[in-house]
Amino acid sequence: MATVLITGCNRGIGLQLATQLKARGDDVIGVCRNASDELSGLGIQLITGVDVSDADSVVKLARELEGITLDVLVNNAGILRRDQFGTIDYDDMLEQYRVNALGPLRVSEALRNNLRSGSKLIIISSRVGSIGDNGSGGYYGYRASKTAVNQIATNLMHEFKPQGVAVAILHPGLVATEMTNRQGISPETAAEGLIQRIDDLSIETSGGFWHAEGYELPW
Ligand SMILES: NC(=O)c1ccc[n+]([C@@H]2O[C@H](COP(=O)([O-])OP(=O)(O)OC[C@H]3O[C@@H](n4cnc5c(N)ncnc54)[C@H](OP(=O)(O)O)[C@@H]3O)[C@@H](O)[C@H]2O)c1
Repeated sequence: MATVLITGCNRGIGLQLATQLKARGDDVIGVCRNASDELSGLGIQLITGVDVSDADSVVKLARELEGITLDVLVNNAGILRRDQFGTIDYDDMLEQYRVNALGPLRVSEALRNNLRSGSKLIIISSRVGSIGDNGSGGYYGYRASKTAVNQIATNLMHEFKPQGVAVAILHPGLVATEMTNRQGISPETAAEGLIQRIDDLSIETSGGFWHAEGYELPW
């Protein structure tokens, strides 16, 4: 049984990860701003009122977790604000950067003492953060925030390697959640793939950027 913390788990992919990990017997700590009825019904430990882009709430999260070892830390919380070249809202761009790029760094830094040799640090990124895979453009703010988090995650890989903590950067696929207006594969299928990737991660493969289906993505 592993102790797994998941951010942004009140809906979407995070909720499915929590559901499936709890069902297989893991000890899941759900972190969110406000718990949904579905999340409250899971019967897992919840830490609410945590905005990953807010310094004070992440400090509060770290205090609540003092002395608890996390086997897996899943940085899942994220936002997508659609933009169009010509009418880009730069505040929206900055908000995405604060949540999608700085959020995982802020949480991982605050919880660094909760990770031990053998722990796994997961960043739910997106293949749209890949420069090599950018064949269509658009989504300036979202793409750039995910490219930034990929760089941050690579730094985290170097940071944590001496301690034996492995890092994975994962793309869940196009998943039918609120973020995508319900387009794509089911969150259930996406979560199954992500859990497989988390299980397969080792210190030898630390730092990889994988699709939930198991293949590596270009940077
Ligand atoms: N769906 C896809 O096709 C897809 C593809 C590639 C990558 N991803 C990534 O997968 C992750 C999960 O996405 P999803 O599809 O499940 O989206 P979602 O259904 O919109 O859920 C997003 C989650 O993130 C939380 N969140 C947003 N901003 C937050 C903040 N500042 N502090 C704390 N929590 C915050 C939301 O909480 P609230 O309810 O409080 O807003 C919600 O729980 C994201 O990182 C996303 O970028 C998704």
